[in-house]
Amino acid sequence: MADLYQQVRARTLEIVAPLEIEDYVVQTAEFMSPPRWHIGHTSWFFETVLQKYQTGYQTYSDEFLFFFNSYYEGFGPRIERPKRGTRSRPTVRETRRYREHIDEQMSRFIEQVAQRDDADTIFRIVRLGLEHEMQHQELLVYDIKHLLCDQFNAPIAPAPRAVETVTGMAEVEGGLFELGYSAGTDADEPPAGMRALPAFAFDNEKPAHRVFLEDFLIDRAPVSNGDYLKFINAGGYQDFRWWHSAGWERVNQDQWQAPLYWQQRDGEWMIRDFAGLHRVADKHNEPVSHVSFLEASAFAKWAGKRLPTEAEWEKAACGAPEPNSKQTFPWGDDAPDTSRGNLFESGLWSVAPIGAFPEGKSTYGCQQMIGDVWEWTTSDYAPYPGFKSEFDEYNDKWFVGQKVLRGGSFATPRRHIRSTYRNFFYPHERWMVGGFRCAKDA
Ligand SMILES: [Fe+2]
Repeated sequence: MADLYQQVRARTLEIVAPLEIEDYVVQTAEFMSPPRWHIGHTSWFFETVLQKYQTGYQTYSDEFLFFFNSYYEGFGPRIERPKRGTRSRPTVRETRRYREHIDEQMSRFIEQVAQRDDADTIFRIVRLGLEHEMQHQELLVYDIKHLLCDQFNAPIAPAPRAVETVTGMAEVEGGLFELGYSAGTDADEPPAGMRALPAFAFDNEKPAHRVFLEDFLIDRAPVSNGDYLKFINAGGYQDFRWWHSAGWERVNQDQWQAPLYWQQRDGEWMIRDFAGLHRVADKHNEPVSHVSFLEASAFAKWAGKRLPTEAEWEKAACGAPEPNSKQTFPWGDDAPDTSRGNLFESGLWSVAPIGAFPEGKSTYGCQQMIGDVWEWTTSDYAPYPGFKSEFDEYNDKWFVGQKVLRGGSFATPRRHIRSTYRNFFYPHERWMVGGFRCAKDA
């Protein structure tokens, strides 16, 4: 646990390393948080662990508790989210000092935990803190993109090439399917030199339970920029027929004409990302990203299809060659690597071309289900039958009004993703790396 703690905490600082001091404090939209806030908030999370379990622990600063709490009612008053960028104090240097202080305390604390009777409980909450920090690493990528985009000096690795053409829809047989996480199905491969830790999954992925599926079809590849451009060029954003009422309202209210980060230059659609401004024509074979659920649904209706449910998505991803069995990842039970999917460690800071990871395909021939873009499903984010909350105010308080996304993105740490992972966002949100694939009744 001590090794994982160090590794995860160091990664956060690696992500922000190219930032200039001025970049840390600016909030470019209500939905994003300034990088300084993430650095402090992820430390605040561990300070709450120290406060609860380390006898004699002295709170670092009440002002920091106020500034770095996110939404936890149980931990007292906090600054409103849209105001995280309205203060220059605590300074970046003070926030880093706070982070170092928490790390020193936590390192000592973790060394002593094993001797305690409540060691299991504490290790579970420390592990949650690390998974929480990995979630914030991904949010940092979204927020830095919103803040700086191609002005950020991201350490971008060369992109892989498409080695296969991936088209059409896979046929998936219906029947009973076990949806959700069961213990022991986590690959959870430790990095070299580290001992394996118990498998981790969030409470919202449990318990595994049976659902009945009809036969269905699902796209073998995520919807591409090229596909999506056809929807735009066909007047998709001007035709109410494709949109939910809430979607049509957004289109008009926010003047949506294309995904976030798309812009027109001399009448041609361009996409801005960490690497610069590109013609859509040069990115037509990459998964579309930064679309909301509302846009994904409109595209699907226009295309004569629909979005998959999360159970359909999970079956298409994890169905094993033997009937009624399930594997951890689309390719089997091994942990993700560079050949199977585009996650944070690939270092692309962007989506990869469709057909770049044939080794990552599922039993049904679906590709890029893990990595690249979180995929919108039509499922509401709600508790599974038999759900038991394991962490106060972490997942269960969000069980209303949001949609489930599956599969992770290019900004998700490898160690953090599972096929059963349920991410959730509001239907109109699109600053995160959200894309989709379509489904159809058989
Ligand atoms: Fe958080």
